Amino acid sequence: MDSSIKKYYHKLSEADLENTIKNSTKNIKDDKLIEQISNHIRRIYCNKVVKIDWFNETKLRKHDFINKALEKINKKNPNYLEIGVLENDNFKIIKTENKISVDPDPNAYPTFLGTSNEFFKGNKKKFDVILIDGLHTFDQCREDAINALNCLNKNGYIFFHDFIPRNFIEEYVPRIGGIWTGDVWKVSVELSKTIGIKFKVILADHGLGFLRKLEDNVKYFEDDRRKLIYSIYDDFFELNKNINYQNAELAYEEFL
Ligand SMILES: C[S@@+](CC[C@H](N)C(=O)[O-])C[C@H]1O[C@@H](n2cnc3c(N)ncnc32)[C@H](O)[C@@H]1O
Repeated sequence: MDSSIKKYYHKLSEADLENTIKNSTKNIKDDKLIEQISNHIRRIYCNKVVKIDWFNETKLRKHDFINKALEKINKKNPNYLEIGVLENDNFKIIKTENKISVDPDPNAYPTFLGTSNEFFKGNKKKFDVILIDGLHTFDQCREDAINALNCLNKNGYIFFHDFIPRNFIEEYVPRIGGIWTGDVWKVSVELSKTIGIKFKVILADHGLGFLRKLEDNVKYFEDDRRKLIYSIYDDFFELNKNINYQNAELAYEEFL
């Protein structure tokens, strides 16, 4: 069974807004700061949400899809690249011996210490599978997507984390809350219009972007960048209309 994202749409009430403000300010003592934060939240507030409990939605996680993609490449030890590794939770369970990890934080112990831009600038390697999970802003994720497409083998796969923000706090740039997807969903709008790839967003793991490169040279579709940059969370519900969202089990079965 497939499942579109629309069935998860939900509207918040006034009481939900007041609870959000209460939760976001509960550890702050300074009254002036509480007032400033409350006003800011009211300004950026959007009453639409995507009500998905990622833990209970599916048992499948991004590493399940990445490991299946590596199997599908059908060669010994395909080349894997991970942009943004944090504590290596995902990287260490990826099943190939040819792995590169990129992160500017030395505490992440990446195989390449530096930003994704620095890595791609000097890179001459081609990859079979790539995960983009670095800086979660539209501009950076877009740059990572373009660079990754350029060094991905034909029939290779790219995965993106966090393409489904569930509410305005998860989506807001800069980060203001706990869970943060940022506004990388805007890249999914452009990928859905890019020719020479197959692309969908899986309803798993905060929205897993899933792409297969069908041609040797693929030109990333650059939409109106200014319009996308100034788009806010409310626009997500309109701009995502052409995106193919798919239930995780079905996506794992069908693959791309
Ligand atoms: C969400 S975490 C990655 C989680 C990891 N992929 C996993 O699944 O366990 C994001 C990481 O991106 C790194 N990062 C931030 N800016 C970056 C950049 N410009 N290039 C590459 N990585 C970046 C951060 O240091 C952080 O470790």
